[in-house]
Amino acid sequence: MTLGAELGTFDHLPLDQDREISSIVPNRMNLSGLLNDRQLEAATTLDGPLLIIAGAGSGKTRTITYRIAYMLAQGIPQSHILALTFTNKAAREMTERVREVTGKKLTNLTTSTFHAFGVKILHEQIHTLGYRPNFSIYDQVDKTEMIRTVARELSVSRDSIDLFALSALFSGIKTKRTTWESANDQYRELYEEYQGHLKAYNAVDFDDLIMLPVEIFESSPEALEHYRERYRYIMVDEYQDIDERQYALVSALAGRRRAAPRARAAPGPGLGLAVHHLDGRRSRLRGAALRRPL
Ligand SMILES: Nc1ncnc2c1ncn2[C@@H]1O[C@H](COP(=O)(O)OP(=O)(O)OP(=O)(O)O)[C@@H](O)[C@H]1O
Ligand SMILES: [Mg+2]
Repeated sequence: MTLGAELGTFDHLPLDQDREISSIVPNRMNLSGLLNDRQLEAATTLDGPLLIIAGAGSGKTRTITYRIAYMLAQGIPQSHILALTFTNKAAREMTERVREVTGKKLTNLTTSTFHAFGVKILHEQIHTLGYRPNFSIYDQVDKTEMIRTVARELSVSRDSIDLFALSALFSGIKTKRTTWESANDQYRELYEEYQGHLKAYNAVDFDDLIMLPVEIFESSPEALEHYRERYRYIMVDEYQDIDERQYALVSALAGRRRAAPRARAAPGPGLGLAVHHLDGRRSRLRGAALRRPL
């Protein structure tokens, strides 16, 4: 197992906002005015797995942004780059920033949340699982409503169910965080009906947005290969927040590129870069990083 290159902390930043240039073509030279040495090293190291661990507000997201700009300047097609974040706002800001820096139209760059990325894959591939492409996405309210309907159909007494708890249980079962055991087994039939209803209504819930793409990758080697070919440079901001299923999604995509750079015969694109906070939660993050190697 390797964590790739650990780049330590980004200390003592030259916070010189005046040096911001809108529309530069980044190369090592002019990036050096915008990033400190450690950031520059991370932004310009494109091969192999790379893990950045640095403190809050130290410029990790900035480094990813300039790393994308650097990749584009190196001639890497936008379509090969995937930057995943946890909020829509962060994804939008990243795209906007790369656009400002490069002055390029970013029609093929994918900066996205995990869920939005899941939606994209489902739009392209959900037919392989027997759904129609115009599927609906059920939010929490739709989900509880569906559980209520299913419970009524199975004549489960209203008083004996807590919709909120059931919704959480179903989520746990679907994402494999929870298993069926004697304490919850009486809800198994309800869950199976719920799943059947979703499919019948051509609908997916939020958990499916991550789970179904993983299922597609597991069941269709051609689909997986297609996405592996496409997304050759994958970056995850706030990597410490990744959960098991998101990790399954991203590591399936990264595939053989997860191999340590030194272990590979030839250099090549890699699972780009993951970003950790280091702010008193070090041991937890260390643990998370070790469980989820790049
Ligand atoms: N080398 C630098 N030169 C100028 N400004 C910088 C530099 N590094 C970081 N900054 C600025 O510091 C601020 C914080 O950077 P950024 O948001 O990238 O940090 P972060 O590590 O991702 O933060 P968080 O922990 O909140 O995710 C931003 O305004 C960024 O532009
Ligand atoms: Mg950040």
